[in-house]
Amino acid sequence: MDAPTPPANPHFARLGGHDAVVRLVDAFYNAMDTLPEARTIRAMHETDLGPTRRLLVKYLSEWMGGPKLYTPDRGAPMLRRRHQPFDIDASARDAWMACMRHALATTCVDEDLRAELDAAFYKIADFIRNTEPHGAARAHPGRPREQHPQQVAAPHSSMAPTAPDAS
Ligand code: HEM
Repeated sequence: MDAPTPPANPHFARLGGHDAVVRLVDAFYNAMDTLPEARTIRAMHETDLGPTRRLLVKYLSEWMGGPKLYTPDRGAPMLRRRHQPFDIDASARDAWMACMRHALATTCVDEDLRAELDAAFYKIADFIRNTEPHGAARAHPGRPREQHPQQVAAPHSSMAPTAPDAS
C-alpha cells in the first residue's frame, strides 16, 4: 500500500495542531498586552482582544496548513489591505515581531520550526508595513510571496514562489 501523501505545509502538525495554535496566539496577545515596546501597536487594537484572537487562530490554522477556518469566515486574507487603516511602520513591524518572538519562545519547543516560522512571520509583517519612517505612505511592494497557505511549503508556505492573494 502507498504511504499517505504528507501535507503540503506541515507546520500546523509540527507545531502541535489546533491547541498549539491557540497557545501561540494567547501568548502573542498576552505579550502585546504587557511588553512596553508593544504599547503603540496595542493601542491600535480594540480594548477587547477576544475577537482578534479568534481571527488570528483561524488565520494561522489555515496559513500553517491546518483546517481552513479563516477564508470561509472572512474571505481572502488580503492582509495588507485589512491593515491599511493603521499606520504600520518599521517600528510597528518590529514591535509585532517582538510579541510573536516572545510567543514562539514560550510555546514552540522545536528550534528549527521556530526559526522557520520567525522568518515567515517577518515576511508578512514587513509586507504589511505601509508607512515610511517619516510618516509617508509606503508604496505597495508588489505581489507578496507569503500569502498562500496551500502552496508547497519549502520550507514554509510563506516562501512559496507565487502568491495569488496579493493586495
Ligand atoms: C506588522 C505589524 C502588525 C500590526 C501593527 C497589526 C495590527 C493589527 C490590527 C490593529 C488589527 C485589527 C485588530 C482589532 O481591531 O482589534 C489586526 C488584525 C489582524 N491581523 Fe495584524 N498587525 C500586524 C501584523 C500582522 C501579521 C504579520 C499577521 C499575520 C501573520 C496579522 C494578522 C492579522 C489578522 C488575521 C487580523 C484580523 C483580520 C480580519 O479582520 O479578518 N497581522 N492587525
